[in-house]
Amino acid sequence: MSIFPNIRGKALLLMALMAGSQAFAQQPRQKLDFDKGWHFNLGAVEGGEKPSLNDSKWRTLNLPHDWSIEGKFAKDNPATPEGGALPGGIGWYRKTFTVPAASKGKLVYIDFDGVYQKSDVWVNGHHLGFRPNGYISFRYELTPYLNFGGKNTIAVKVDNSVQPNSRWYSGSGIYRHVWLETTNKTAINEWGTYVTTTDVSEASAYININTSVKVADGDLSGISVTTTIYNADGKSVAAGGSIHAQTGSKTGDIEFSNHGKLNHPILWSVDNPYLYKAVTRVIKNKVVLDEYTTPFGIRYFDFDADKGFSLNGKAMKILGVCDHHDLGSLGAVVNTRALERQLQMLKEMGCNGIRTSHNPPAPELLDLCDKMGFIVMDEAFDCWEWKKATYDYHLFFKEWHKRDLEDQIKRDRNHPSVMIWSIGNEIPQQGDTSAYRIAPELAGIVHSLDKTRPITTANDRPDTTNKIVKSGAIDLIGYNYHEYDYAKFHDRYPGKKFIATETTSGLETRGYYEMPSDSIRVWPTSWDKPFVREGNNVSAYDNTRPPWGSTHEMTWKIMKKYDFLSGMYIWTGFDYLGEPTPYSWPSRSSYFGIIDLAGFPKDVYYMYQSEWTKKDVLHIFPHWNWQPGKMIDIWAYYNNADEVELYLNGKSVGIKKKTGDDLHVMWRLKFEPGTLKAVSRKNGKVVLTREIHTAGAPAKIQLIADRSSIKADGKDLSFVTVKIMDKDGNVVPDADNKVNFKITGEGFIAGVDNGDPVNHDSFKVNYRKAFHGLALAIVQAKEKAGNITLTASADGLNGASLVIKSK
Ligand code: GAL
Repeated sequence: MSIFPNIRGKALLLMALMAGSQAFAQQPRQKLDFDKGWHFNLGAVEGGEKPSLNDSKWRTLNLPHDWSIEGKFAKDNPATPEGGALPGGIGWYRKTFTVPAASKGKLVYIDFDGVYQKSDVWVNGHHLGFRPNGYISFRYELTPYLNFGGKNTIAVKVDNSVQPNSRWYSGSGIYRHVWLETTNKTAINEWGTYVTTTDVSEASAYININTSVKVADGDLSGISVTTTIYNADGKSVAAGGSIHAQTGSKTGDIEFSNHGKLNHPILWSVDNPYLYKAVTRVIKNKVVLDEYTTPFGIRYFDFDADKGFSLNGKAMKILGVCDHHDLGSLGAVVNTRALERQLQMLKEMGCNGIRTSHNPPAPELLDLCDKMGFIVMDEAFDCWEWKKATYDYHLFFKEWHKRDLEDQIKRDRNHPSVMIWSIGNEIPQQGDTSAYRIAPELAGIVHSLDKTRPITTANDRPDTTNKIVKSGAIDLIGYNYHEYDYAKFHDRYPGKKFIATETTSGLETRGYYEMPSDSIRVWPTSWDKPFVREGNNVSAYDNTRPPWGSTHEMTWKIMKKYDFLSGMYIWTGFDYLGEPTPYSWPSRSSYFGIIDLAGFPKDVYYMYQSEWTKKDVLHIFPHWNWQPGKMIDIWAYYNNADEVELYLNGKSVGIKKKTGDDLHVMWRLKFEPGTLKAVSRKNGKVVLTREIHTAGAPAKIQLIADRSSIKADGKDLSFVTVKIMDKDGNVVPDADNKVNFKITGEGFIAGVDNGDPVNHDSFKVNYRKAFHGLALAIVQAKEKAGNITLTASADGLNGASLVIKSK
């Protein structure tokens, strides 16, 4: 039994704690999901905050909700194609609820995980506050304004009408979860625990827990704060405890600290993301007034100027990706399963890091990164006082940066996955002396709340004139791009620590190929876009890059060469809505992803998998449907083998081996229809075989659900891949048939997509054209258990259907 006692300087005996713990059956803290049963109106409402307003004709919906994703793509929407070309506007949300009379005497709060943006909140007509930042989590106390035992009304105005205010798709509305929390008058504050671990080794670790407690009337008599540590099996674990006196004044918020030693801790790592729980109890005269659980991990890490990054003493590189917050056709609406699916795909690729570009993420993302083993760079801002989009956060920075940054750090500092704080992305003030004022201030805010992690900024001007770097405020020097300059880092910055905060920006359309594939120029600063074409496609051979970026292979070859390069965050893991570089309208989503917007991997995914994982990989592309006689480049990504042999219609066309720093092999062949077969071998033994066949005409649909059984919780998802196949079961690579979906039973279609950045159909309809042979339907569970039947049909094709169980 591990107990970390602290009672105002006096040791508590184990027995006393046991006695105290019996009292907590009465659930001292209640956190309710407050997502259900809201009324929504798109457009301004006069007196929308008034309790007497009749909102019965408003639409009823459950949160989280993003009204932009329900809108129509249009070139002239004020968000512009950069912002995803979807509408913004003003929206009102209202919810009527009762609070039990028994809650009188307690404290009641409403917690918003994120509202985009400029939200005003009222309860029973009383204005609670305004928050401009669309990504920050915030709470209001409702207690003084509530009718206990009676009806109450919450009203929320969301204003995303003034645009452009973002360089990517933001979404609009209450797009993250909302909670109603009730505590006793003496209770732990919001984000009120801070767990740190010191002197960590395989043998032992010290665990320190600081707890901020609101003590009713400042009356500390009989009050103690204890923390018990539980392992992942729910067993309390043994350690000695020592005691510290509380700090702080006798009125208001009081800080308590507990600490103790844990023997043989299981360390958190990307391969074994082991989590403990600290359960902190506030006890007064043996009654448990509050109980608060903080998941945490025990690990240590280091960024070394020469040796790079190490986790728990083992050298490794951070192999990360940057991602924006949208979840493709679900828009900005946060969904845990959708996030988990993204992380699973990235993990399969060998990725071990996420950068929350360029804002605080949904809390669920960090929970998943803790559980799944990702190293997170948690970013605060895309701008400071100078704008990047006309109406972005620069308008609010001066007034709000301190509050927003403090809230972010307090919310996120217990996550073991978070290892780097970023206080800004490509801040234009890198070139201005105001950086000398702002960078140290922001770093000071962060370090006043957390000294256990380094601070960086993502710099697109990482030369020695950079005023943010010169200010001395940052711990890690973050490079965005400039890959060709990495080797000279220590000439520029002797003794400094490096992180590639953002790399690459390779551009690809899934399934689209142009040849010759080896036509790529090496690092001039100009565009290298030999295959940017009408129709707004970009060749998927990893050979198109913007002036500031590099191809995937160019970047990785440099990264793997030097130990001091501690890690990288590639721009981006997934395509996202908005920023359709190298095009603009009619494109409305990005081409940067290793995986497309629908979640279908592009070919380069397998380059990473062959380099970043130990599993056997052999991936050949492109497809095998071309004009006879055309010269085709066939690439293979492979690993764990000495060679790959390629056969066309049974005849060998040669053995290829990677030499030097090659990351793929290539054959150039005259196309003839039939079968292309690749065989990888090690010491003469076959490792893997892959075949691609020339596909015939589209004949049938195949549906594949990522999960055939989901939870009947109203939230869970099954992602159904739709394949257009010929009669022999080959995916038809240029198929664009329109597929109609029908769904019956206990589910609905939450979104459809195909990964095409140029498609303007709504994501919220029951049909989708295939794009290069594939489409996606996202099935969401209702709250009743039962079967869900999804049927897909298309003119001239044999349809398909499947059943998903919702339990
Ligand atoms: C970077 C920027 C990202 C994104 C990317 C596209 O400069 O930090 O937000 O715009 O370029 O290549």
